[in-house]
Amino acid sequence: MKLLIVANWKMNPQSLAEAKRLFNSVKKEIKNVKKVKIVICPPFVYLANLKLGKNDLRLGAQDVFWEEKGAYTGQISPLMLKDLAIEYVIIGHSERRKYLSETDEMINKKLKVVLKTKLKPILCIGETEKEKKAGQTEKVLKSQLEKSLKNISRDKFQSNLLIAYEPIWAIGTGNPCHPKEAKKVLLFLRKIIKKNQILYGGSVNSENARDYIEKAGFQGLLVGGASLNAQEFIKIIRNTI
Ligand code: PGA
Repeated sequence: MKLLIVANWKMNPQSLAEAKRLFNSVKKEIKNVKKVKIVICPPFVYLANLKLGKNDLRLGAQDVFWEEKGAYTGQISPLMLKDLAIEYVIIGHSERRKYLSETDEMINKKLKVVLKTKLKPILCIGETEKEKKAGQTEKVLKSQLEKSLKNISRDKFQSNLLIAYEPIWAIGTGNPCHPKEAKKVLLFLRKIIKKNQILYGGSVNSENARDYIEKAGFQGLLVGGASLNAQEFIKIIRNTI
């Protein structure tokens, strides 16, 4: 199984020209990288304008709607992503849960349609600082997984679903989860999710990236802020392999 390094650009950059620049710098630099699969998740509006080459660079979306078509103003259908040859889609990112009140039930509906469309969902789960302090991390993660995967058979999600453990208190804070702590969580998740690839996300940078793979045992990374700087993102990739 190849390591997966996912760039979540969030609502950045602010122009197509900049998005192309960033994308092309990464594309050029990773030409000879064979051991890692890299997925760039730009805002929807840039997806059709970023051209993939022949290497292991892929595109992903940051969200999707749970219906395939119809009167849903502002939403994007999984069929539209499929049509653009998008392979991955982030589902349930904590920023969507927080700012758009996305629930596990909505995430469950999205996962069902995404798996049906044969896109690869990257399901984000993670606890808040308050939950962590109250010793509820495992309980929260278990509940998020159970609700998100409700009525989806293991057969269905075994091959295509990816999980990203992203402790909310570590996202965008410059306060990453210690690899030892992350490893404990990973071992817990492994009891529930046996085979799927599990990634770590939350203040990943070129200094700590390798630790999550080598010391903690994750099979990939979800990188936010640091993926907006081409040089730093490339360093993360190089330091990981
Ligand atoms: P960060 O974001 O790397 O900026 O902490 C990670 C994420 O939200 O996926």
